[in-house]
Amino acid sequence: MHVIKLQSKLREYEAHFLDDNGFMVALQRHENCVYVIDSNVWRIYAGTCFRDIPRADLIIFPVSEDRKCLRSVEELYEKFMERSAKKNMTLISIGGGIVQDVTGFTACTLYRGINWVFVPTTLLAQADSCIGSKTSLNFRGFKNLAGTFYPPSQILIYPPFLKSLEIRDYLSGLGEVAKLHVMGGEQMTSHMIEQLPLLLERNLDSLENAIFSSLQVKQNYMEGDEFDAGRRNLLNFGHCFGHALESTSNYSIPHGTAVVLGMMFANLVAKSRELLSAEKCDFLNNQLFAKLLVSSVDPENIKYDGILKAMKQDKKRVGEGLVIVLMKDDHTFVKVVDFAESELAASLEEYTKFFKTPCTL
Ligand SMILES: NC(=O)c1ccc[n+]([C@@H]2O[C@H](COP(=O)([O-])OP(=O)(O)OC[C@H]3O[C@@H](n4cnc5c(N)ncnc54)[C@H](O)[C@@H]3O)[C@@H](O)[C@H]2O)c1
Ligand SMILES: [Zn+2]
Repeated sequence: MHVIKLQSKLREYEAHFLDDNGFMVALQRHENCVYVIDSNVWRIYAGTCFRDIPRADLIIFPVSEDRKCLRSVEELYEKFMERSAKKNMTLISIGGGIVQDVTGFTACTLYRGINWVFVPTTLLAQADSCIGSKTSLNFRGFKNLAGTFYPPSQILIYPPFLKSLEIRDYLSGLGEVAKLHVMGGEQMTSHMIEQLPLLLERNLDSLENAIFSSLQVKQNYMEGDEFDAGRRNLLNFGHCFGHALESTSNYSIPHGTAVVLGMMFANLVAKSRELLSAEKCDFLNNQLFAKLLVSSVDPENIKYDGILKAMKQDKKRVGEGLVIVLMKDDHTFVKVVDFAESELAASLEEYTKFFKTPCTL
C-alpha cells in the first residue's frame, strides 16, 4: 500500500494507505487513546470497523459547520479532563474536515500539544486537507478566523470509507481532486478525465490512485512553504472566487463544489487575459469541472455585489485590487493581485451565460 512521507517544521509524519486488515491493526496499535468520531461515521461503522473501540475511550462528535468553533474545543477539553487525560495521551480523530479542524486545534492547544492521529473519512479530507498542517475554527460568522499549524503524527487513509458518503460530499471531494490533478500538469489532467467514469462509480483502485496523486501534488506545492507565504498560495486556485460563493450561498454550497465553480470562473478570467487559450478553458470547464456538478448554480448566489464584498474580505488580500489565482496554458499558475472590479463584472456576465444551460451528472 502507498505511504507518503511528509516534512513539517514541527515533525516528520506519514500518511499510510490501509486495507481492511491494516486498518484494524493500525488503530489498535496506540495506547492511552481517546477517540473522537464524527457521529455519522460512528452510526455507519460502529458495528464493523470500530467494534473493538472501548466505549470509555470514545467521544462521539456531531458535525456541522457551526460546531467548528471554540465552544466545541472547550467541550472536548472538558470530556478529556473527565477521563483524566494526561500529556502522554493520543487523540485519534475519525471524520472529515470539520472533525479534523476541531480536533487538530484541540490537540495543538491541550497541554501545548498532545499526540494526534487522524483518520480522514471524506474524500476531501483523504485527498487534500489531511496533509498541510492547518487547523481552523470559525468565529462569530467569520469562517476559519482562528487557527494553528499542527500536523497529526500519523494519518491513516482507508478509502472504503468513501463508499458511504452522500453524493454531495463525494462530489465536493472530487472537486479538490480535480484541482490537484489540473495543478499536477497536462498528463495528470488527461488521466483524471479518462478515469472520471470509474471515479464517479467510486471504484476503489481508481480512488486510491487519485488520492495518492492528489496528495503528492499538494505536497509538491507545500514543500518549503509550510506556512503559506509563497508557492503554497497557488493551491488557492479556485478558492478566491470559491470562498466568495461559499459565503454568498451561506455555506449551502459544499467547499469542494465551490472550488470547482471557482476554477471555472478563474479560467474565464485567464482566457480574457490571454493566459489560457479558449480551447483549453472550454475543454477543462466542459469535460472536467462541469461533470462534477449535480445541478446548476442558483443565480442568487452569483450576484455582483455579494461576490465583490466577499472577495474584498479575502484573508490573502493585501492591496487595493482583488486576488485571484489563474492558470496558464502550460498548467503553471500565477497569483494576480490586481483583479479589478470592472473585470469581475465582465467575467461574471460570461460566467452567468455558461450556467444558463444547467449541468447535470
Ligand atoms: N484544515 C484544512 O486544511 C482544511 C482544508 C479544506 C477544508 N477544511 C474544512 O473542512 C470542512 C469540510 O470538510 P469535509 O468536506 O471533509 O466535510 P465534513 O467534515 O463537513 O463532512 C461532510 C459530511 O459527511 C459526513 N461523513 C464524513 N465521513 C463520512 C463517511 N465516511 N460516510 C458517510 N458520511 C460521512 C459528515 O458527518 C458530514 O455530514 C470545512 O469546514 C472546511 O473549512 C479544512
Ligand atoms: Zn479547499
